[in-house]
Amino acid sequence: MSTMNIIQVTSEDQLGVEAADFFANFIRNFDGKPNVILPTGFTPLPFYKEIVKRYQNGETYLGNFRYLALDEYLDIPNGDHRSFAAWLGREILDPLNISVDERIVFNSACTNTDAECKRIAQAVKEAGGIDLAIVGIGGNGHIGFNEPGSSFDLEAQRIDLTKETRIANAEYWGCLDKVPRQAITLGIGTLKHANQTLMLATGARKAAALSKTLHGEVCVDVPSTYLQQQGNVTIIADHDALSVKA
Ligand code: F6R
Repeated sequence: MSTMNIIQVTSEDQLGVEAADFFANFIRNFDGKPNVILPTGFTPLPFYKEIVKRYQNGETYLGNFRYLALDEYLDIPNGDHRSFAAWLGREILDPLNISVDERIVFNSACTNTDAECKRIAQAVKEAGGIDLAIVGIGGNGHIGFNEPGSSFDLEAQRIDLTKETRIANAEYWGCLDKVPRQAITLGIGTLKHANQTLMLATGARKAAALSKTLHGEVCVDVPSTYLQQQGNVTIIADHDALSVKA
């Protein structure tokens, strides 16, 4: 079992600073242009704010990476302002001037999802794999949109979102009825090959899942437990997220 490096923070602002320090250090020490996965969601917002601030203050090396998409809603037009691609564009990729050519993203309007899963898994391999995967965690232990029960071997998959996940995303969509029912995601079969993983977690809603991630049995019922089998994992979390002890 691998040990995970845990950095406990006391506020969302401190999470932003710690994550930005980690990211800056990673980019500075990387030989070349790394392939980086970035998550959407509320948790990484202070991190993105901090990175954009540093970039605008002259730390332009922070934009020296290729972006690999983690997940995306299905059945919405490409470019829809609610898509994860557009969301990440607004929050970090556009401010950091990551060109569209340097973004490997899903086709949210694809009709053949099996073909789209194969295409994206192949695109990640051809790009050279994942150098750094930055992920959040769902209250049910999902990583990306790998909901409980997801095989650890799938490279990418189409997924029916659980009600819990749809409720968690309802604020973003305005109301539950508008949240898409299906999504596409890089699978754990791809994510587990990341050279490094950084997970961000805040709030008591994540505490049970985070505790299982750290100390629970490795099983598909809690997808995030795959991290126990991986080296090079860092978790930045606040006190509430770390409040459930094993
Ligand atoms: C988003 C994603 C999800 C989120 C998770 C936590 O791209 O992959 O796994 O990271 O649902 O979301 P927040 O941060 O909103 O609690």
